[in-house]
Amino acid sequence: MAARVIPVDPFDLVIFGATGDLAQRKILPALYRRFAEGQMPAGSRVIGAARTEFDKAGFRAFVDETLTACLDTDPPNPEIRAAFLDALDYVALDARGDQGWTALAALMRPDVVRAFYFSVGPSLFGALAERLGAHGMATPDTRIVVEKPFGHDLTTARALNATLAAHFRETQIYRIDHYLGKETVQNLMAVRFANVLFEPLWNARFIDHVQITVAETVGVGGRGPYYDRAGAMRDMVQNHLMQLLCLIAMEPPYCFDPDAVRDEKLKVIKALDPVARGDIVRGQYAGGAGAASYLDEVENPDSLTESYVALKVGISNWRWKGTPFYLRTGKRLRARASEIAVTFRDPPHSIFGEDAPWKANVLVIRLQPDEGMTLRVMIKEPGPGGMRLKDVALDMSFAEALGDDMHIPDAYERLIMDVIRGNQTLFMRGDEVEAAWAWTDPIIAEWQKTADTPRPYDPGSSGPDDALMLMHRDGRRWREIR
Ligand code: BG6
Repeated sequence: MAARVIPVDPFDLVIFGATGDLAQRKILPALYRRFAEGQMPAGSRVIGAARTEFDKAGFRAFVDETLTACLDTDPPNPEIRAAFLDALDYVALDARGDQGWTALAALMRPDVVRAFYFSVGPSLFGALAERLGAHGMATPDTRIVVEKPFGHDLTTARALNATLAAHFRETQIYRIDHYLGKETVQNLMAVRFANVLFEPLWNARFIDHVQITVAETVGVGGRGPYYDRAGAMRDMVQNHLMQLLCLIAMEPPYCFDPDAVRDEKLKVIKALDPVARGDIVRGQYAGGAGAASYLDEVENPDSLTESYVALKVGISNWRWKGTPFYLRTGKRLRARASEIAVTFRDPPHSIFGEDAPWKANVLVIRLQPDEGMTLRVMIKEPGPGGMRLKDVALDMSFAEALGDDMHIPDAYERLIMDVIRGNQTLFMRGDEVEAAWAWTDPIIAEWQKTADTPRPYDPGSSGPDDALMLMHRDGRRWREIR
């Protein structure tokens, strides 16, 4: 089944940092795929802007190589690739200086959608915003796209918000959290609000607990200097896991409108309890079997930064009081597996007797790999011999359900097209980001104050043993990472 392609208006998309890692791995391949699907209308242009002294032909050759290296699907069709490269332009530009800005302004067309993608470090956001304003490019309909990390803590996030607000209105600012662009993450909203089955049960009365897992097999690789300053709490929990938590826990928005959705997410973040010291476990991967340890990879033998974190958090509102949310994420774990598991409470009374083998109903939403959903339900084991109960999985793989040739778009494909459409629903609002930092900051401050040492864990394991205890002591268990 082919995905339905909804056309967008012609656009000029300028990518600052067009030769950087993110542009190569994510942004350019995503644009190519949308072009190949016929979603980029004729006359649209992607304009690279970076320090490298390319001319137009040089940039096109660069992107050609990038596509060969970074497209994880079939090699691009030569005709489509040529047409895509034809839609590219380039300006060599100095973000903090004067070079290139007049040339860029001359390229901009007044009658098409205009977006600037800041695929650069946050230290350049201010300079870019200022120069866009000074050169008359920050028109009222202009959109800017900014990447995470959006700040290092509440203070820096506030300063960044203020810098951007000096030149752009909130409705023009698209803060990316690429988890919101993942198909299954959006499906969370469809599951909750397009079915009557779950919502009546979606509260502390019927849900025992929720587990959110984002496990990775990769280590920090070449991102050591950034990662060692950030750690799993800033890199993953403050943004990606927080967004997942919000989508599970929020009240139904009155409509699927950017502010209606973001208002509800913000209320969840504000209702999060502070996390007690004993409700959080930090880990750091050791080396072993030829694999480098975290300390080796970041080249900092004294680092106290966590590459793993597991925590338990409550939400103080009427819907969730009494239902803990357990979150965990880490690098160099056993498998790449991200999922949300909602475990329901036991029925109030068993008509099958006290000894009946009982397994709670669990709804598992798999984000990656093999996107899909599983609902574990109790049935009678077939055959004579009395009423024996058994739990089985009602399993749905989206690839199977929708057809194997259905291409599930990468998060960036969806998000970039949403920028062009002017739809901010899947982007974080400034107050949301600040609220998330306000919750995260005291946890990190406590670690720093006490020089907390992360627990070592074996690469290829499911994290430090102490994380198991976090659930065991509550009479619960983490789901296996596989
Ligand atoms: C990024 C983090 O935001 O998300 C990385 O900075 C992490 O450390 C990545 O590896 C995970 O994204 P995904 O889409 O591969 O789950």
